[in-house]
Formats: sequence, structure tokens, C-alpha cells
Amino acid sequence: MCGIVGYIGIDQAAPILLDGLEKLEYRGYDSAGIAVYNGTGIQMVKATGRLKVLYNLTQGGASLPGTAGIGHTRWATHGEPTDVNAHPHFNKDSSIAVVHNGIIENYMKLKKKLEAHGYEFLSQTDTEVIVQMLDYYYDGNPLETITKVMHRMEGSYALGIMFQDHPGEIYAVRKDSPLIVGQGTGGNFIASDVPAILKYTREVYYIENEEIVRLTDSSLTFYNIDEEELEKAPVMIEWDMNAAEKGGYAHFMLKEMHEQPKAVADTLNPRLRDGEIVIEELGMSDDEIRQIQKIYIVACGSAYHTGVTAKYVFEGLARIPVEVDLASEFRYRNPIFGENTLVIVVSQSGETADSLAALREAKANGVRVLGIVNVVGSSIAREADNVMYTWAGPEIAVATTKAYSTQLTAQYLLALKFAQARGLLNAEEIACMVSDLKRLPEQISLLLSHKENVQKFANRYLAAEHVFFIGRGIDYAISLEGSLKLKEISYIHSEAYAAGELKHGTISLIEDGRLVVAVLTQPSLYRKTISNIVEVKSRGAFVMAVTNVGNTEVEKVADYVIYIPETNPYFANSLAVIPLQLFGYYVSIGKGLDVDKPRNLAKSVTVE
Ligand code: F6R
Repeated sequence: MCGIVGYIGIDQAAPILLDGLEKLEYRGYDSAGIAVYNGTGIQMVKATGRLKVLYNLTQGGASLPGTAGIGHTRWATHGEPTDVNAHPHFNKDSSIAVVHNGIIENYMKLKKKLEAHGYEFLSQTDTEVIVQMLDYYYDGNPLETITKVMHRMEGSYALGIMFQDHPGEIYAVRKDSPLIVGQGTGGNFIASDVPAILKYTREVYYIENEEIVRLTDSSLTFYNIDEEELEKAPVMIEWDMNAAEKGGYAHFMLKEMHEQPKAVADTLNPRLRDGEIVIEELGMSDDEIRQIQKIYIVACGSAYHTGVTAKYVFEGLARIPVEVDLASEFRYRNPIFGENTLVIVVSQSGETADSLAALREAKANGVRVLGIVNVVGSSIAREADNVMYTWAGPEIAVATTKAYSTQLTAQYLLALKFAQARGLLNAEEIACMVSDLKRLPEQISLLLSHKENVQKFANRYLAAEHVFFIGRGIDYAISLEGSLKLKEISYIHSEAYAAGELKHGTISLIEDGRLVVAVLTQPSLYRKTISNIVEVKSRGAFVMAVTNVGNTEVEKVADYVIYIPETNPYFANSLAVIPLQLFGYYVSIGKGLDVDKPRNLAKSVTVE
């Protein structure tokens, strides 16, 4: 995710940059850096660790005098959190400095081209490619050089750029990563987000895709990618600091739910090239994939639930037997490892003690481990043989939402890749499924845009004591997550059942008014689950159903129906989970609970 800031004006830049970065630490906190023009050149300090390390190193900014600068707080994507990978990045004579938030998807290709022209790279980041490209094309005209580079980059970026021979200017550009420009009285600002500059100005310009801004201490000039000047109007920010940190949302959980379309796209897009699935970090040839005979997916909590879904996807598409294990059980159950076993450990934090122990158990038995991890450089990422990163950015709310969605996405991609390598899906079938995957972000946005409907329903159930979630197949996996979301943040007892299991015991708990949430996204199982709805209805249950658009038959049996857009049934979890996350959220806030920090829970469970 990362946060960027920039300042040019009459005041000392470094303290303003450090102050802004502190407000953006929620966007990333594994390393930070600032660069300031000091009258003769661009001076820079960067440091691994929280911002206070950089603060101490620069004596609160005092060691970097100058009135123009850029800064960055990092959430690593490409390359581990180290000093050399921290931003700003420089060209070879330190005359151009860049800070970047986003992912350059074609950076490997661009890097090879630059290397062929004699460029040497110091870091493992995608960002260094940007600064070296700027160097390559620079002819004294910053604007022209920036547009040339923009034409060649694929992916997402918000950039702050300084050219040593244009000391009175800072440039900023954006595509698919957030960027705002603030107009102050004694100077101007750039930032990833409003809180970074709120102390200095409330007059803000929102930069649109492929727009460029030239900032001086007293002027702002906006351009499009064709270098034509644009007229833009400022917006006055009314939020207080607390609201601004959450992007205007009431809670981090709500904000993070709304970040899901972008997080899913960020996890997906870099691995889709010309309709093909390319997962370089898997480190396995198609031949090696074909040799895998068994997969264990090991994780805890919500991450485990993504594994339950992935089992259906892997087995259905790639016909490989998959066992899904709770990491806390796996580590002690003496699992049977064959020569051709792959263990996939799924973890947002990459630090969950049980998941890490399960990884070590597998490695001690000589089994290859693939980590699906969100936090770059975390223990699981470091110890796994290969790592596939989910690019959800930092997740602050304890209850996971966007990390869960990206873990699902990563596993869909893997299952498709395995199915293709094993000759079970042809190019046409892959292309069709890839096009469904690509539609997920906008479909998630659509579901989020109807959140008020879920809120109205949730408000009727604030006093519920027990709630049951039911579904079959992938719908059972979705039910597990819906149930966990509700119980962990609302403190309402809830349980998920495979719908067919109800009559083997649980149905005795159904009584008048009991809320049952039924999930029906798998067309081949509709009729079966409808029968289970009828069973609970006849015992007095109130049923909310989540089903596919067009499945209007459910309206005849359920009391309240939420429809999700059409997608391939294997990917339905990504859509059906959205109303369930919203339901848990609205029940929690309706009860006046601390939804971002539920009692007794920690974001990262580093003890057994
Ligand atoms: C629930 C939740 C937890 C985590 C679990 C694993 O909302 O967030 O159940 O999924 O603690 O954590 P990671 O993914 O960090 O290993």
C-alpha cells in the first residue's frame, strides 16, 4: 500500500514530511525515507523499521535542511523491508529522486531493457525501474520525460518526483493509486491521503488517473498525459483528523471492506498477462506442477476458511486431492507427507504461531512449502520455499476482510494454473474464467454500494442470541466465514453448518424467530439447500438467503433475499462474503461495540 508525501514552500520540508508520514503510517510501516533539496543537491535518509527510527536518525528532520522534499512510508511489495529497498529511490548520480505507491506490473520487462542499456539496479523493488527510466529519457524537460515513462509503465502508481536541476519544483502523477494535492498559504503539498496534510491545509485537489501536477512554492499546474494544461477545482475537506485517517469512513473495517475491489485487482492483475496466468513466484515449471499428487492447505481462522473454499476449487478444476487443516491441529497430528506433496500455508500477518509451526513441521519432513502471505518479509514469507504475496496492503481492523478476499483470489489463480498445467482446462476455458475473475472487483463494488439494505436488515437482529449459517459445498465455506465475522465482532453466538448436517442434531436448536442465514451460490446444489430452508422455516426460523441473481425461487421460501451478481460458481465466495461481512459489521456497530478492536482478540496471534 505505502504512503507518499511531498512539500515545497517557505518552511523547512523535512519536519513537515515526517509529520505527514506519521499520519500515513497506517498505510505501511516497515521502512521510511525522505529526500530534501538542500540548495546544492538532493540529500536523502532512509531506514528500516517504524518511522521513529527515521525521526531519530534525522533529529526530527533537522539534519536535512531545505524547503522542498518528498517522503515515503513503505509497505513492502517487491523486495523485503531493508534500507536499500526503502524509498526514495535514486538514479546513479542522485539527481532524480522518486517515491512510489503502487505496483509496476511490467517492471521485469522494463528492467531487462534498462540493463541492456548498462543500467545497474541496487534494490529488488519495482520502483527503481521508474527512476532509472526517468534517467534514461531525461533531456532537461521533466514533464515530457514523465509522460514518456508513464506511456511505458503498466500497473498502478502515485509518484512524487524531484529533479535536481529543477530545484523549485516537485512533480506528482497518479494512475490507480491515491494522490491528493494540498494548496497551502506558504507552500504546497502532495500526499496519498488527506490526514497527512490536514494540519496545514484543507484545500485539496483530487488527482485523477494519468494526471500530472507541477508544484512550486506558490503555484500548482495540472496536466494530462498529452501535456495539455488542465483546469481543476479544489475541494474543502470538512473531516476531522479521526475521520480523515479512516478515509472518511466510520471505522477501519468499513474502509477495508471498501478497499476490497482494489485489493483483489492488485492481487490478480500482475499475474494475468495477455489472458494467461503467470505466477513466477511459484517457482515451479508445468512439469513440476504435474508431479504434485497431494496438497495440504494449512491456516488459522479466516485464512483457514479460504482454504476450505480452495479445496473445492483445486479438486474441481485441477483434480488434485486437497486436505485443509487448522494449523493448530496439523502441527501435532503427524500428517502423512509423500514425495510429491505441496503444503500451502495461508496467512495475512505471516506471523501466526501455529501456521509458522506447521510450516516448520512440513519443512522438517522435506516437503515443499508455498506461503500465501500479505506481510512482505514476515516469518512465514521468509521461511517458505516460495511466497505468493497477496497485495491487500496493511489491514488495521482485527476482523479480516480485504486480506481474506485476496487470499481467495491468490488460490483461484493457483488452482487455474494447476488445472492448466495438468491439461484439464484449455486456453479458451482459462480465458473465460479469467474474464470472470477480472469482473470480481467491480461486482464487489456493486455489492458494497447496496450496503444500506444489509444495514436495515442487521438493525432488526441486534438482540439476536444465536444465529445459524448454512450452505453446501463452497456455500458451506462461505457460511464458516460469515459466521466467524458475525460472532467475533458482535459477540452473538453463531455457528455454521453444512446444510445437510442440520437434521443430524442442530435442527433441535431451531425455534420461533431464530435467524438462519442460508447461502445458495452453487446452482447444482440449489434444490438441496432450498429443502433445508424449508426444514428450518417449518420450525419457525426467519431466513435470510444470499443467492445468485435470477434464482428467484428462493424468494418463495426465504424471508429476505440478497442477490449477488453472476460469476463462475467457483468464484462465488468472493461475492457472497460481502453482504455477510457487512451484516457482521452493522450488527456490531448497531450494538455500539468497538468493531475495529473486538474484545479478547489480537490482529496477529504470535502465541500458540
Ligand atoms: C478473523 C481473523 C482471524 C485470522 C487468523 C489468521 O477475522 O482475522 O481468524 O484470519 O488469526 O491470521 P493470519 O492470516 O494473520 O495468519
